[in-house]
Amino acid sequence: MKALEKIYEGKAKILYTTSESNRLIQYFKDDATAFNAQKKGTIVNKGVINCAVSSEIFKFLETKGIQTHFVEKLSDREMLVKKVQIIPIEVVVRNAVAGSLAKRTGRPEGEKLSETLVEWYYKDDALGDPMVNRDHIRIFKWASDAEMTEIEKKAKKINTLLVPYFETRGIQLVDYKLEFGRSPEGILLADEITPDGCRLWDMKTKEKMDKDRFRFDLGKVEESYQEIFKRICK
Ligand code: TMP
Ligand code: ASP
Repeated sequence: MKALEKIYEGKAKILYTTSESNRLIQYFKDDATAFNAQKKGTIVNKGVINCAVSSEIFKFLETKGIQTHFVEKLSDREMLVKKVQIIPIEVVVRNAVAGSLAKRTGRPEGEKLSETLVEWYYKDDALGDPMVNRDHIRIFKWASDAEMTEIEKKAKKINTLLVPYFETRGIQLVDYKLEFGRSPEGILLADEITPDGCRLWDMKTKEKMDKDRFRFDLGKVEESYQEIFKRICK
């Protein structure tokens, strides 16, 4: 399957049409942005690592009964996916306090949450992806109540699968962002699951192994992505 026409270019990925109307190619770039693209840079080989890591995780989730848009990994940077209509909501799942949750609540970074926390953000770069609640989402018709109930259930199921998946690889899954899409088969997990959109801490050293290293200039950015790749894909 070959990439035909570019239909969308985001900050980290490009989407292309293919010869099949219900299939797209998701191409992973090395470009990295943070703080709503105020900070821009490159993480060498990130596209290759993220394509491989996301493919592995989607494959794992599929074996556990989670429907995703993943079809197959085509090359180093290309993933064949089912065409979906992306629901414009970023679903953030948290197991411990970090990032904007720490800022918003004053709770200490690393504090474990007594249960899985699901948050909703409206996917709009111009607005800086504001946090919204289920009433906003229903009233502005970004998604229906039934869809949100299904998404929340799926997000929690994904979390119960991914926490031990990362733990066996010596990684604490602190928080992450999911996106879902509508398809003829129902709601599918879409986009990517990579160190770009997850907080991943080494369980032994507590070192950050994700995009926070880029966001906050912590150094060893490429090395950390490489280490995640090693633990997930080898
Ligand atoms: P936050 O603490 O900044 O709200 O981020 C929570 C998680 O969601 C973190 O793992 C990073 C991820 N995330 C994205 O993937 N994209 C985004 O635009 C934001 C703000 C967060
Ligand atoms: N991906 C978002 C951006 O560029 C936010 C982030 O990951 O920090 O800007």
